[in-house]
Amino acid sequence: MNKAGFTCEITALATGQNIERLREQVRIFRPKTVFIDSYNNSPSIIREFEDQQIEWNSLETLAIREDIDVLIVASTGLVSLKPVIEALKTGKKVALANKESLVVGGQAVRDALAIGQDLGAELLPIDSEHSAVWQCLWGEEDDAVKELILTASGGAFRDYKLAELADVTPQAALKHPTWMMGQKVTIDSATLFNKGLEAVEARWLFNIPIEKIKILQHKESIVHSMVAFQDGSIKAQLGEPDMRLPIQIAITHPKRAANEPSAPLDLAKHGSLNFSEVNHEMYPALQVALEAGQREDTAMAAVAGADEAAVALFLSGEIPFTDIPKLLRHTLNNHPGTPQPTLDDSLNAEEWGRNFVAISHANQSYTR
Ligand SMILES: NC(=O)c1ccc[n+]([C@@H]2O[C@H](COP(=O)([O-])OP(=O)(O)OC[C@H]3O[C@@H](n4cnc5c(N)ncnc54)[C@H](OP(=O)(O)O)[C@@H]3O)[C@@H](O)[C@H]2O)c1
Repeated sequence: MNKAGFTCEITALATGQNIERLREQVRIFRPKTVFIDSYNNSPSIIREFEDQQIEWNSLETLAIREDIDVLIVASTGLVSLKPVIEALKTGKKVALANKESLVVGGQAVRDALAIGQDLGAELLPIDSEHSAVWQCLWGEEDDAVKELILTASGGAFRDYKLAELADVTPQAALKHPTWMMGQKVTIDSATLFNKGLEAVEARWLFNIPIEKIKILQHKESIVHSMVAFQDGSIKAQLGEPDMRLPIQIAITHPKRAANEPSAPLDLAKHGSLNFSEVNHEMYPALQVALEAGQREDTAMAAVAGADEAAVALFLSGEIPFTDIPKLLRHTLNNHPGTPQPTLDDSLNAEEWGRNFVAISHANQSYTR
């Protein structure tokens, strides 16, 4: 036990390409094992990490190692979906920041959780909104909950006029007003598609229908999300926008550590907090995500794949910002959904969505 009230050993670290960051972290945390996706069997890597065991097989093999109790998943895309499923089945506590795994494989993740629950499996949210909802739900009965209220900063263009959006650049879109995040999630915040992904994520995490998830714009990103109860009360979780707190609480749960990882919130300094309804004309991608998320077929997976492709086209300067929601709507309108999908159906639909956007962009069918 340290003065923060908990101890935690980093037994393994995984990276995609950023070997420099891995070096830094290995120097600090001295993990027993490292996984390096893009340097398979490289002799120089074997020499450099001679103090570590290098896991060459797969993230799945890493995720189920016996010396790991808590798996923290903050990768992009779907690379961690199968590792999350395997880790849950073997009874691990999985702290999840990654949205795509739940958006595409939500049912499979919940099935894996059910299989591993007797062995101690737990699925804990790290995404700040879901961590907030989770904390508001502690000690509450399921049937006392009326709705979840996810807050949205409004992203980079919240103060723009609708007519100005057609000309915005990727550089401008990547300037999130309150959070420092990777490129994909920052663009998704600017279109508000991210909030649709979060609603679907909340559906799977908290087992609640999407119709009971409300989105409220809140530009300060201080209230991270809320739960409204049947008796009219609302509970909220507040804090400075800093991911260290949701990460810490997922690790220390069910205890709160006696440690403030970020500056304590000074409400008097903030003065006022603002809330408003989302203007759907400004953010048409949100409506596409919510409609897809309400369907019980593969629509959400297809639209999630379409968004990956559409965001990449915008970042490479091939389409204007305002074409992202058009491509998403075109995908949803044309996707032949598979009902009661298996995990493979959902993964295929995700790929279908990416390909459909590539074809629609090539033949410009979405603009007609
Ligand atoms: N960033 C945030 O504040 C935040 C908050 C809430 C939720 N999220 C969610 O968390 C996820 C990540 O978002 P991000 O913005 O943090 O993305 P990011 O900055 O691009 O980071 C992605 C991470 O995934 C790792 N990765 C990629 N491919 C990998 C592979 N094959 N094996 C192992 N690691 C791999 C990358 O490692 P390398 O750099 O070494 O390639 C990098 O560390 C998304 O689902 C996002 O919606 C993020």
